[in-house]
Amino acid sequence: MNKITIVGAGRVGETAAQMLAEQQLCRELVVLDVCKGVPQGVALDILQTAAFFDFDTRVSGGSDPAMMAGSDLVVLTAGFPRKPGQSRADLLEANLGIIDRVLDDVLRFAPDALLMLVTNPVDVMTYRAWKRTGWGRERVFGQAGVLDAARMASFVALETGFSSRDITAMVLGGHGEATVPLSRYCTINGIPLEKFVDSETLERIIERTRSGGSEILALRQNSSAYEAPAAAIAAMVEAITNNRRRILPCVSILDGEYGQRDIAMGVPCVIANAGLESVVQLDLNETEQELFTQSVASVREDLTLLQE
Ligand SMILES: NC(=O)c1ccc[n+]([C@@H]2O[C@H](COP(=O)([O-])OP(=O)(O)OC[C@H]3O[C@@H](n4cnc5c(N)ncnc54)[C@H](O)[C@@H]3O)[C@@H](O)[C@H]2O)c1
Repeated sequence: MNKITIVGAGRVGETAAQMLAEQQLCRELVVLDVCKGVPQGVALDILQTAAFFDFDTRVSGGSDPAMMAGSDLVVLTAGFPRKPGQSRADLLEANLGIIDRVLDDVLRFAPDALLMLVTNPVDVMTYRAWKRTGWGRERVFGQAGVLDAARMASFVALETGFSSRDITAMVLGGHGEATVPLSRYCTINGIPLEKFVDSETLERIIERTRSGGSEILALRQNSSAYEAPAAAIAAMVEAITNNRRRILPCVSILDGEYGQRDIAMGVPCVIANAGLESVVQLDLNETEQELFTQSVASVREDLTLLQE
């Protein structure tokens, strides 16, 4: 990819920018933020790591949305993170105006870009972006499941003591508490997880995965997670840049898959250089289907907040 813009130079945006530069996932990287001076400072700071990580990605920062012109991909991390005890509705209210303004900038200055939503509540924001841009779903998608699956894999590693390099996990559904960790699709070097853990341990892994973000927020108090979220963004960008056709759980607009339409949900997707190539339909057992249906209901409830 030639040019990527990250809108929002906060913790997630800055950390993701550092990772994209280090991995040389584009030639030009722009960091935008409304906080005067901050994006310029972030860009300089990242540039000054080039000698250590041996990259030559051109990094710049600013507050003028015109700087995103010509971007192949725009990543939206602008907006408030959740505070302890804050409801999704309150977070949505705080971030919706921000996202709408940024979307208008994207439509004006980067009309041909792919768009990755990260700002929470990410399912609702992805839906909003799809509606407001009028673009095809292949160009508008969200990051959530890559992070939730990585969290699940980390808890599997902690519980089993096996190398995290051998663990693959898959999740479905909404982000955070609405996640449906698919233990049946979780393997350790191809061997189903259920061979190694009892049902009590499995339940613990699932619960910790669902509340992975809240656990970190409760511990840190003044910051939600940003290292793993940034790494999840970088993993998706890497799949796009290198046209990997990786199957990654992403927030996608559903068009009949899983029996749903007109909703943004976390599902396995094929990610390549055109963006979200297709949705992978998994066969769900009765329990998984029930949990997925509950997750759909909770995201649909959030979507009604957009009409208020
Ligand atoms: N989807 C996920 O998996 C996931 C994971 C972690 C965080 N998040 C979300 O990402 C968002 C950012 O989190 P953070 O920890 O980086 O927050 P942060 O407060 O550190 O940074 C947010 C930044 O957005 C900037 N901003 C606000 N309005 C803007 C605008 N109109 N244009 C450009 N920049 C603007 C702020 O100035 C700030 O620098 C939050 O909504 C958080 O909940 C999502």
